[in-house]
Amino acid sequence: MAFELPELPYGKNEFGAFISAEGFDYHHGKHHAAYINNLNKAIVGNSFETLSLEEIVKKSNKESNLPVFNNAAQHWNHSFFWKCMRPGGGGEPTGELKKLIERDFGTFDAFKTEFSTAATTVFGSGWAFLAMDGNEKLKIVKYSNAGTPLIDDLKGIMTIDVWEHAYYIDHRNARPNFIESFWKFVNWDFANNNL
Ligand SMILES: [Fe+2]
Repeated sequence: MAFELPELPYGKNEFGAFISAEGFDYHHGKHHAAYINNLNKAIVGNSFETLSLEEIVKKSNKESNLPVFNNAAQHWNHSFFWKCMRPGGGGEPTGELKKLIERDFGTFDAFKTEFSTAATTVFGSGWAFLAMDGNEKLKIVKYSNAGTPLIDDLKGIMTIDVWEHAYYIDHRNARPNFIESFWKFVNWDFANNNL
């Protein structure tokens, strides 16, 4: 089954200085689309072809099939990342996620600082995730390249893409500015629903 680029669940002009329409055109329309095109080419006619995206990520990781893994995991991570932001988002989480963040990090501000530091210090290209482990404890995990919580049996709750392609158009080399802007748009409802 060929995978398709998911539509963004919002307009491209609704994120102020965080991501411009041009930023989305490149990041979503070119980079994410390229991962999907490459994935479709890499799975045609082989044992991956009939699997779900999650199954492809896990199987290719186990088999150290990097051409499949990199493109499948990047498709999964990006599809997840677009849902982690929304116009009018930001602020602090509510409900269960608020309780769990306070239980596992002390305060929301402490969590925010720890997450921002993790995202800032990913060396080279990668991702920072808020994830939940098998004991239902929240943790912050950093990944290089196409790393993803799917391969660690962790449930992704929220993420930020810190590949340079994520911020170069709107923030040039200033990754910390991109991360700071992200907090104004985090979709905490989506994050809560991932628990
Ligand atoms: Fe990206």
